[in-house]
Amino acid sequence: MGKQISKENLKYYIKTFGCQMNERDSEKMAAVLENKGYSPSPFKEADILIVNSCAVREKAEQKLYSCVGRLCAEKKKDAKVIVCGCVAQYRGKEILNRFKVDAVLNTRGIEDFEQILEDVLNGKKVVHIPSTMRNPNKILPHLKNKVSAFVDITYGCSNFCSYCIVPYTRGKEISREKEYVLEEIRRLAQDGVKEVTLLGQNVNSYGKDLYKDYNFVDLLYDVSKIDGIRRIRFVTSHPKDFSYSLISAIGEIDKVCKHIHLPVQSGSNRILKLMRRRYTREEYIEKALLFREKTKGSISTDVIVGFPAETDYDFEQTMDMLRKVRFDSSFSFRYSPRPFTIAASIKEMVPEEIKEKRLSRFQSLQEKITWESNLRDVGKTFDVLVEGKAKRGGLLTGRTTTNKVVNFSGKAKKGEIVKVIIQEAKKHSLQGMMEKDHGKFEDQRCGFSQG
Ligand code: SAH
Ligand code: SF4
Ligand code: F3S
Repeated sequence: MGKQISKENLKYYIKTFGCQMNERDSEKMAAVLENKGYSPSPFKEADILIVNSCAVREKAEQKLYSCVGRLCAEKKKDAKVIVCGCVAQYRGKEILNRFKVDAVLNTRGIEDFEQILEDVLNGKKVVHIPSTMRNPNKILPHLKNKVSAFVDITYGCSNFCSYCIVPYTRGKEISREKEYVLEEIRRLAQDGVKEVTLLGQNVNSYGKDLYKDYNFVDLLYDVSKIDGIRRIRFVTSHPKDFSYSLISAIGEIDKVCKHIHLPVQSGSNRILKLMRRRYTREEYIEKALLFREKTKGSISTDVIVGFPAETDYDFEQTMDMLRKVRFDSSFSFRYSPRPFTIAASIKEMVPEEIKEKRLSRFQSLQEKITWESNLRDVGKTFDVLVEGKAKRGGLLTGRTTTNKVVNFSGKAKKGEIVKVIIQEAKKHSLQGMMEKDHGKFEDQRCGFSQG
């Protein structure tokens, strides 16, 4: 007789590629599994293995295949493997045929995860690639004991930037009705969550498909009225819809963090047009600088180098943008041609070695600017939401409202907002100590007794 498997012994493993939307989707599946008694484990011990895929660049797709190959080869004998996310949308059947996986599902299929899990456990092979969601409003489960939570406000994207596969993998943009979004956040607040990050590929267009007179700014005001929620963040803002009324709201609402992620992609008007971004460099700069002036907040961005037909001059315009806006941080990528997209058919490809050179020039200037931005914070005091223990040095960790990671000494509970004085700038973070400890430390160093 085989050993009886008790519920407590069931284990799961999830590997997530890609953006915050994928992270949230992975969390929905993890929460279903945890509600059924599964607990997280290394992949070799897991009974259910899930790989949540990203299709945004070719490299991400390649990583998926090597990951699935390895998991299938080294997993426990009877463990089930589920591949989901953006790549599953268009390579679902291929993945099922090529690897020994049990189910493939796209991002819209995740709302049916519970059923898929049951089918898989009953030995079925499942392909679940629905073309629409049954109920985008449905409040899907969250993991417990969190300080900070992601909340979807829109699914999909209807912008069709010429390089981007997301509208093809996640489908057209749909907003979730405000009552459901607000109810989800109220429940999170009751469970002790202090910070919510509202998620959408273009949060600024929230509600346009649902309401005549209710938009993203209205939603921010409504979320800010929920007791218990102390901080509100959102990603991603699209520059074309980033409005003056939103800038005012960010400045006005205390709970809204003073940080925007506003992907610029390129500093060249010619390339922005080819990318179909629908704003100019001048409009971008005006909005970004106004945001800084009104809110004193920080700005992060995404940049693509080596878009087809990008000349040296176009790239210099991107460098110039970086000098003018002085992004506090950025994610920069080599252009990667993607299936279904218009840009993939533009013939004038930029050679890989030129992309590489441009990327490293951009990144080294960005590093310098990020470092300067961090240095300016030394000596200042910030409110930091405590997220838990830092990885090293027995410190605590959290973020400022400007989205900088702060590791600090002191005593505080997860979920508290404490004042931290910054003592040192690191490359990608700040280091400091809690204010009330600061005086003590200074006194001791100076040899004064605390008497
Ligand atoms: N909705 C967000 C972006 C989501 S994709 C927005 O509109 O800004 C995240 C980032 O991946 C993009 O901002 C872009 O910089 C990058 N990206 C998207 N497609 C890409 C491609 N084909 N090659 C390289 N980078 C790409
Ligand atoms: Fe992609 Fe553009 Fe949509 Fe962002 S806005 S997800 S870059 S199509
Ligand atoms: Fe990747 Fe899909 Fe997000 S392609 S970036 S996981 S929307």
